[in-house]
Amino acid sequence: MRIDIISCVPKLLDSFFGHSILKRAQDKQHVEVYVHDLRDYATTKHRTVDDYAFGGGAGMVLQIEPIARCLRTLQAERSYDEVIYLTPDGALLQQRTVNTLSLAQNLILLCGHYKGVDQRVRDLFITKEISIGDYVLSGGELAAAVLADAIIRLVPGVLNDETSALTDSFQDDLLAPPVYTRPFVFEGHEVPAVLLSGHEANIEEWRHEQSLKRTAERRPDLLK
Ligand code: ADE
Repeated sequence: MRIDIISCVPKLLDSFFGHSILKRAQDKQHVEVYVHDLRDYATTKHRTVDDYAFGGGAGMVLQIEPIARCLRTLQAERSYDEVIYLTPDGALLQQRTVNTLSLAQNLILLCGHYKGVDQRVRDLFITKEISIGDYVLSGGELAAAVLADAIIRLVPGVLNDETSALTDSFQDDLLAPPVYTRPFVFEGHEVPAVLLSGHEANIEEWRHEQSLKRTAERRPDLLK
C-alpha cells in the first residue's frame, strides 16, 4: 500500500511515521508513506497556498491551484482508490471504514488548514471526506496521522501477531476485554483466576462476558 499525504505544514507529520509499528511497516515494505509539501506546488515567489475568503470573514482558505497541481502530479503516476479530505464536517471515522481502506493500493490524504480548502477542491477531486471526531483541530495533519495509523496497522503483515487486530475494540462492535500481565499479585490485587486456568474455552467465555459488560457500561449505543 502507498499513502500520499498533502499538507502545508509537512513538518508536523515528519516524525510521526518514523517510529514503532509505522516505521517497521515501512521498513518491511508493507507500506510506503510520502508527505508532500503543498508549498512545493505554489507558483508565487513567497510560495503562498492560501488567500482571503470571497465574501469576507476571518480566516484564510487553501487555494485550488497548488492542490490541483499536486493531485494531478500524483495521479499522473498511478491511480488512487480514494482521495480523502480530512475535515470536521466529514463522515465520522468508524472502524468499518478503516477496514475497507486497509484493502486499498493507493490513497491520498489531503490536510486542510485555516478555514479549509476552496469548495471546488472538494467538488472536483475529493472522493471521501472524513472527520476523526466532533471537535476542531488546527489542521488536518493530526487527523491524517490518526487515519493513516489506523489503516496501516491492518495491512497484512504489519502486526506481528496477525490475529491481534481481530480482537481490537470495535472490530466486532464490542469493546475489548481487560488484559493483565505479571505480577500475579500487585499490592493484594490479583489477576482473575480464570486467566491462569489454562482452560481456553473458559478464558474465551470470560473475555466475551467482560467485553459485553464493558460495552453495556461504557458504550451502550454499540449494542443497539
Ligand atoms: N481538521 C480539523 N478538525 C478535524 C477533525 N475533527 N477531523 C478531521 N479533520 C479535521
